[in-house]
Amino acid sequence: MEYLNIALPKGRLGEKVYAMFESAGFECPSIKEDNRKLTFENEEKGIRYFWVKPSDVAIYVERGAADIGVAGKDILLEYSPDVYELLDLDIGKCRVAVAAPAAFRDNPKRALKVATKFANIAKAHYTAKGREIDIIHLNGSIELAPILSLSDVIVDIVETGRTLKENGLEVVEDIVPISARLIANKASSKFKGEIIEIIKNGLAKEIK
Ligand code: PRP
Repeated sequence: MEYLNIALPKGRLGEKVYAMFESAGFECPSIKEDNRKLTFENEEKGIRYFWVKPSDVAIYVERGAADIGVAGKDILLEYSPDVYELLDLDIGKCRVAVAAPAAFRDNPKRALKVATKFANIAKAHYTAKGREIDIIHLNGSIELAPILSLSDVIVDIVETGRTLKENGLEVVEDIVPISARLIANKASSKFKGEIIEIIKNGLAKEIK
């Protein structure tokens, strides 16, 4: 049979996302079993889940390996995948912000060194302000960069602000609010549109 393939983001957000699918009537009890399986089917409902790295969900959905999935708005803004954004699930809320050491003062005479994994979001932000920047692309532990003078500022996700605080950094300005979004492959939206619509409406009712 042809399943509707659903890519879930691994980790804390993914648990919350699955709980919403479950409450909406798309449960898959085997997903809670402690085993090494990577895909989980509910034959009766015709759905199959799989966990992927949060930043990979949009790739699976764009390429049609997953019909739908849940990705952070940060990933959608950064990579602009060619997918439909169907619903804001109102979970995984945080923001992308510029942060710097408390003593930081911008020197407009030279390019601002910006460490980030969100190069496109950072570029768009500073281009709009007409500020010249030098992007330092990192993949994690971004907060280290200004501490070790690798960069002047960082552009990163801030949720509680705890990571910044514990490293002597402060928010300089907010760039954009983030939350988890239900996304769909464009062709799947046509050919599996009915079930996708049912899932979307079911999830919409679960938004607190
Ligand atoms: C994000 C971000 C910060 C942290 C912010 O990291 O990069 O390090 O969360 O959260 P806080 O404001 O509540 O302290 P994430 O856990 O996504 O992992 P990463 O190290 O791969 O960026």
